[in-house]
Amino acid sequence: MIKIKPILDEALLKLKTANIDDIESVRIEYLGKKGKITEMLKNLSELSIEEKKQFGAEINIAKTKLNDTIENKKKDIATKLLEEKMKNEKIDISSSFAFPFSKGHQHIITKTIREISDIFVSLGFDIAEGKEIETDWYNFEALNIPKDHPARDTQDTFYLEGSQNLLRTHTSPGQIHIMEETQPPIRVIVPGRVYRNEATDATHSAIFHQIEGLVVGENITFAELKGTLTLFIHKLFGQEIDLRFRPSHFQFTEPSAEVDIKCVLCGGKGCKVCKGSGWLEVLGCGMVHPNVFKAVKYDSEKYTGYAFGLGVERFAMFKNGIDDMRVLYENDIRVLKQF
Ligand code: PHE
Repeated sequence: MIKIKPILDEALLKLKTANIDDIESVRIEYLGKKGKITEMLKNLSELSIEEKKQFGAEINIAKTKLNDTIENKKKDIATKLLEEKMKNEKIDISSSFAFPFSKGHQHIITKTIREISDIFVSLGFDIAEGKEIETDWYNFEALNIPKDHPARDTQDTFYLEGSQNLLRTHTSPGQIHIMEETQPPIRVIVPGRVYRNEATDATHSAIFHQIEGLVVGENITFAELKGTLTLFIHKLFGQEIDLRFRPSHFQFTEPSAEVDIKCVLCGGKGCKVCKGSGWLEVLGCGMVHPNVFKAVKYDSEKYTGYAFGLGVERFAMFKNGIDDMRVLYENDIRVLKQF
């Protein structure tokens, strides 16, 4: 009679260092159809009833023990493999590689509007919003723009089909809304989008942005206009910037002026952007025309005021050394990243 104990010990020893494939070989070697322990069970028939009972029980215990050990070992290995796998696949959310995208930021036009608005807010101006769809009254009539004025032409203005409405060609109608809704003193800016029927090139766009300014009260003078706008230009471009007020004409202001700054791209020598003049025109302004006050039923004997309007894109370009307006709208990520 062969003893079961040494056979079981031998099998258990082999299992100790076994990998997943070895385990299966051990199982076959001892518990398979022709396995060492299986054979022993087969040989039981040759024993006496007493021996069968005792030896059979021993073999069964050994068999169960080996089986359990094999199953546990398999489980252990499976758990270890899973742990290993999870460790390798673990996502480190604190790693910078988890965020390979660059952060978004405000568009240069938005930034410019905010920068300009901040300066006027620091000078006591409120910020108001106008409407992009306007009527002839707000965009032209109330602003003293005569019926035959070229700006009213469809060549310049987008009229909305089947209605009396149009897309505002400037933010000046904002002046009318404010004066209709409130009484002086008024000190306000109106930033917004405007539309003109014109072809796009390096200095023009059919859709662009303006910031309107309006100040109305008693004893508001041209000197205040000059002082305020000079301060604004200095705050935006620096104290050293050269600027000049040049007489001009607008239907809704009298007298009117335009403000030029020394070309920031060539320093005044003359270049493509300043068209050789050495100066850049940056805003239109003037004292509110009495006819405009009449349109909003203000007493032009009691009140005076000034207005101004500036093109945001031009400021964005001049401040950032951009010589082609189109880059502001193309939204090429390589350009956007620079501002
Ligand atoms: N609305 C004028 C334009 O678009 C600018 C302007 C505004 C001029 C206010 C004077 C006063 O050119």
